[in-house]
Amino acid sequence: MNSKKTSAVSRERYNQVIENIDNLPSLPAIVSRLIQVVNSPDSSADDAAKLIERDPALTSKMIRLANSAFYGIPRSISSVASAVVILGFNTIRSLALSAAVIKMFSSVHSSVIDKDCFWKHSITCAIAAKTIVRHFMNVRMMDPESAFCAGILHDIGKLIFNEYVNDGYREACQYASANKISLLEAEKLILGIDHAEIGRIIADKWALPLDLEYSLVYHHRPQDADKLNDLVTTIHLADVMAHRLGCGLWENEYFNDEWKNTRTVLQLRDDDYKKISESLAENVEKSIEFFTIIN
Ligand SMILES: [Fe+2]
Ligand SMILES: [Fe+2]
Repeated sequence: MNSKKTSAVSRERYNQVIENIDNLPSLPAIVSRLIQVVNSPDSSADDAAKLIERDPALTSKMIRLANSAFYGIPRSISSVASAVVILGFNTIRSLALSAAVIKMFSSVHSSVIDKDCFWKHSITCAIAAKTIVRHFMNVRMMDPESAFCAGILHDIGKLIFNEYVNDGYREACQYASANKISLLEAEKLILGIDHAEIGRIIADKWALPLDLEYSLVYHHRPQDADKLNDLVTTIHLADVMAHRLGCGLWENEYFNDEWKNTRTVLQLRDDDYKKISESLAENVEKSIEFFTIIN
């Protein structure tokens, strides 16, 4: 393919992607409102509970999750109000947002991306992110549930490619493999935009909070973020760990130099990595339960 033709094709695909994102549904009103409630310092647990109770499906998911082994809370929780108090605002936001996004893309045809594989990767990344944050709890100020939610959503741009420029995305994946370049570079080359940039457009469209937006945009290039460096580096590391655990989508998504940089930023020693990996392996089993309830 000559370069003129390549750029014309990628421009056309780029336009197709952007147009389709414009037509993407908004987040459900309850979820958008919940994000605002969680972000406002004046909100109470009661405000969040009242909002969730307006949606019976969300209410039932919330209560089932609060009682699941995934959260491991020793007492039984029977109301949304208790679930909000016990799980905390960020967990509630994380659950509502995850459920909405999973539902929104539930009809996506799995021709390039295997959807089960996609969500398994996302949930493994989310659990890894939460595990890393907990490991560094005493030295770094991050919220484990924000990291969890960022992990769930980090690759959402790939679902957009899969849904709207299916052939182009298949070509990008094959091109990356054949030419031994990263998938992100191949996306940019073949589709004119990569899934991290798609993340920025979606974050903007859905008015996602900054921690999520930055995680979507910078999870492959944490060094480029002008703030929230610890969080985006954590999501990056979590993503790499999910791949190393065999829960990746493509083998050439990461290279070793990125891995080394990440370890340097987080000052991750071998024994930290070993502990995080062990804890992650134990928790990944529970991810199936999370997905079953939220789906
Ligand atoms: Fe990614
Ligand atoms: Fe990923």
